Amino acid sequence: MRGFQTVSVVLFSTALVLADASTLNFRPDNVTLSELYHWVGSYYNGTTYLEFAPYAGLASSETEFCPMLRNKTITKNYTTVLGLTEPASYNAPDDPVNAFLTFWPHDFDFSSIPSGGMLNEVSSLEYGLFSSNPVYNDYFMDGEDDFIWSLQKTQGPPYNLSSTLTDYEGFPYWEINSTIICGESTVSSWTFVAVAFNFSLNGTNFTDPVVNLQFDGSTANMTMKGYIVADPNLVAGQYVDSWYGNVFGGTFVMSFEGVIDRYHSDVLRDDTGTPTWLRTVGYQNNSLNVGYTTTSGVIK
Ligand SMILES: *[C@@H]1O[C@H](CO)[C@@H](O)[C@H](O)[C@H]1NC(C)=O
Ligand SMILES: *[C@@H]1O[C@H](CO)[C@@H](O)[C@H](O)[C@H]1NC(C)=O
Ligand SMILES: *[C@@H]1O[C@H](CO)[C@@H](O)[C@H](O)[C@H]1NC(C)=O
Ligand SMILES: *[C@@H]1O[C@H](CO)[C@@H](O)[C@H](O)[C@H]1NC(C)=O
Ligand SMILES: *[C@@H]1O[C@H](CO)[C@@H](O)[C@H](O)[C@H]1NC(C)=O
Ligand SMILES: *[C@@H]1O[C@H](CO)[C@@H](O)[C@H](O)[C@H]1NC(C)=O
Ligand SMILES: *[C@@H]1O[C@H](CO)[C@@H](O)[C@H](O)[C@H]1NC(C)=O
Ligand SMILES: *[C@@H]1O[C@H](CO)[C@@H](O)[C@H](O)[C@H]1NC(C)=O
Ligand SMILES: *[C@@H]1O[C@H](CO)[C@@H](O)[C@H](O)[C@H]1NC(C)=O
Ligand SMILES: *[C@@H]1O[C@H](CO)[C@@H](O)[C@H](O)[C@H]1NC(C)=O
Ligand SMILES: *[C@@H]1O[C@H](CO)[C@@H](O)[C@H](O)[C@H]1NC(C)=O
Repeated sequence: MRGFQTVSVVLFSTALVLADASTLNFRPDNVTLSELYHWVGSYYNGTTYLEFAPYAGLASSETEFCPMLRNKTITKNYTTVLGLTEPASYNAPDDPVNAFLTFWPHDFDFSSIPSGGMLNEVSSLEYGLFSSNPVYNDYFMDGEDDFIWSLQKTQGPPYNLSSTLTDYEGFPYWEINSTIICGESTVSSWTFVAVAFNFSLNGTNFTDPVVNLQFDGSTANMTMKGYIVADPNLVAGQYVDSWYGNVFGGTFVMSFEGVIDRYHSDVLRDDTGTPTWLRTVGYQNNSLNVGYTTTSGVIK
């Protein structure tokens, strides 16, 4: 079993872990990096625009619950870092890339992320879409795919990928504070859940979310579209356990645009049909990277 193998490697020796790291997708640990940047790959800074719109075809019970939401569109922007990283032995053989789309508070200090934890469990993370488990080489947990990308045939970047999230068990909800009047109560906090499973409300037909991603060595764009159900979990300051009772349904669009962060990124090759990186972060051969100290082997 793969799980057993990983544990043995970690237990046996540090040297083995380092040797193994060359066949895995981790960076050498002689370069000081926030845990967000642990993997070989490209990292993009940008903003994600999120929009929720009520679903017009909802059954009467839902509209009665919150008539004011019927025509209301809720939007929000998030400070985002997208990591597109090299696949490893834990990925499905045909999965071309791992994508970690992460939303953070504005001006977040990334060095405050605790080391050795799971990125998707960091408490400051406002939302994350992870195509695979963000595992660390010193973490006793096996990686696995949450969803698998399909890549359009190409000779090199830009890469165009897509996926339908039929069974996503990652981090599928957004919490938004918004003053929305529902009946007698002021609801201050809502949880919006991407419908990543077949979900049926009376008169609705919610399909699975679809994700699209395009990237090259300079920019990355990612969108996700689908349906949401929403749940007010704070009514007049009190938690209301209304799951599957007072839900509201609608559509969502999540749209990220980002620019490469060269300091934290390995060099993306420009001549391969699947995304491939020249390892540079930690190897001191790219003057644009973190940890660069010498001029030997400087890339063009
Ligand atoms: C929502 O919009 C529709 C069509 O524009 C309109 O008929 C309806 O009265 C609106 N509902 C509310 C609650 O504003
Ligand atoms: C989000 O950003 C877009 C583009 O910069 C801007 O047009 C929009 O007003 C912003 N929306 C919110 C809710 O901040
Ligand atoms: C990316 O591929 C999708 C099909 O998966 C296609 O609809 C879309 O036009 C492509 N986008 C670009 C920019 O080539
Ligand atoms: C929403 O507001 C509550 C009460 O002020 C706060 O505890 C919570 O952290 C806020 N949530 C978000 C996502 O901003
Ligand atoms: C969800 O619905 C789609 C389309 O009807 C179907 O292909 C898929 O098997 C369903 N998934 C589950 C988990 O039932
Ligand atoms: C669905 O809506 C119809 C028409 O409003 C209603 O008669 C029926 O009872 C509803 N079914 C369920 C399961 O709520
Ligand atoms: C529900 O899905 C079926 C099959 O895909 C489609 O024929 C029907 O128009 C959809 N209904 C709604 C309300 O979108
Ligand atoms: C991402 O979107 C921007 C703005 O539309 C565009 O200039 C850029 O070429 C896109 N990047 C890719 C890799 O498609
Ligand atoms: C991207 O964001 C990270 C984290 O805030 C920061 O360290 C880096 O300098 C930024 N890079 C660019 C090119 O904006
Ligand atoms: C940088 O050095 C590493 C380790 O020797 C090597 O794998 C990589 O290909 C080099 N990258 C470049 C751009 O020279
Ligand atoms: C960091 O580790 C890598 C891989 O073991 C090695 O190639 C590189 O020379 C090291 N850099 C420094 C400054 O020790």
